[in-house]
Amino acid sequence: SSNQMWGGRFASGPDAIMEEINASIGFDKKLFAQDIRGSIAHATMLAHQGIIQSDDKDKIVEGLNTILSEIESGNFAFSRQLEDIHMNVEARLATLIGPAAGRLHTARSRNDQVALDFRLWVKEELEKTEQLLTNLIAAFLDRAEEHAETVMPGFTHLQTAQPVTFGHHCMAYVEMFGRDRSRVRHAIEHLDESPIGAAALAGTGYPIDRHMTAKALGFREPTRNSIDTVSDRDFAIEFLALAAICSMHLSRLAEEIVIWSTPQFGFVRLSDAFSTGSSIMPQKKNPDAAELVRAKTGRINGSLIALLTIMKGLPLAYSKDMQEDKEQVFDAAESLELAIAAMTGMVRDLTINTARMKAAAGSGYSTATDLADWLVREAGLPFRDAHHVTGRAVALAESKGCDLADLSLADLQAINQAITDKVYDVLTVEASVASRKSFGGTAPEEVRKQIAYWRARN
Ligand code: ARG
Repeated sequence: SSNQMWGGRFASGPDAIMEEINASIGFDKKLFAQDIRGSIAHATMLAHQGIIQSDDKDKIVEGLNTILSEIESGNFAFSRQLEDIHMNVEARLATLIGPAAGRLHTARSRNDQVALDFRLWVKEELEKTEQLLTNLIAAFLDRAEEHAETVMPGFTHLQTAQPVTFGHHCMAYVEMFGRDRSRVRHAIEHLDESPIGAAALAGTGYPIDRHMTAKALGFREPTRNSIDTVSDRDFAIEFLALAAICSMHLSRLAEEIVIWSTPQFGFVRLSDAFSTGSSIMPQKKNPDAAELVRAKTGRINGSLIALLTIMKGLPLAYSKDMQEDKEQVFDAAESLELAIAAMTGMVRDLTINTARMKAAAGSGYSTATDLADWLVREAGLPFRDAHHVTGRAVALAESKGCDLADLSLADLQAINQAITDKVYDVLTVEASVASRKSFGGTAPEEVRKQIAYWRARN
């Protein structure tokens, strides 16, 4: 049989394969609440403008509310023949209220309808993401405060570089997730324009009021260009782009947790709640959650590239290619939500082995820079010369198999006679960390300033 929406033009129905490739109801049913909200706002505006009768509007609104509760309670039969969520809802409305249902689609197209539904969905998802990031930042702020003075090795090239504090390291992630959250806020600002009323692409001859629907649906204002409105999926791409950047940050953190929780590092221990055992090796405690967070990054990157590629060659305005936008966004949203939540739990539960961290911080000649700085400050050497002298001291310690602080004063003076026993004060990891008071540095007092800054903004 022919289609009930466009049967006037069509003599026969679609081939089975046509139906299968064309239908989106399998995934866009997720948009049911947004679709119904949008239709209620549209019908209310149509009646207000005298485009439909107010008793028809009442029937439409009542019918849509019935459909909403049918779907929410699982008592709605979705049909693939009806293609997508928009036509499933409209067809059910016709069954419920009769001919008045046919007036709902006045001055509207599925092109502006889907743009509206999807924008509303992405906006809600962004608001959820903002809250999840706030929770993750809060977890880090607590750990940073607790460990503002806990010394650990700082790394470059994953080689011991200089001592830092674990609190400082935590605050590095707060900066990253803080930037992610501000990208979320910008994305909300960008998408906060209502598409409904752009119609198929050219606008409409009916005297609609797009400011009224924009306001009713919680948008700042209506979009300005009807062609752009139905062709634009920047809001979805921006969501995927910020999700990709955020999950890249999550993945770096996941990688550090994987490394730090090995027996070889032993810096942290994962809680039982966020790790798994092995079915064969009884001693194992595996960081599966961290590994999966690291892996989700791959999926999210894939979704971003998929949608960019789908959109890149499309002539204006709507093409059916754009129907493929939703699965990418839904999958990325689910992955990102899970990854942030799992990471928040891991960070809150992590047991920090301060003794292991401190021991590691002192090995690998991590205070060599402090020795060089001391020579600059106390003996007036140019930094390049001080670097050379210190390099010789490190080589000597290495040949003796000891730390810098274990070299005798005579040994040090044989390298440079300006060295006095005061130098030993700067060779401890605590002294090293405490000395780095430059703005944004690792000294505990500076780390506490960073924490105060973010507490005031979280
Ligand atoms: N299911 C479609 C989508 O998700 C709705 C818009 C269809 N519009 C059209 N002219 N075929 O993109």
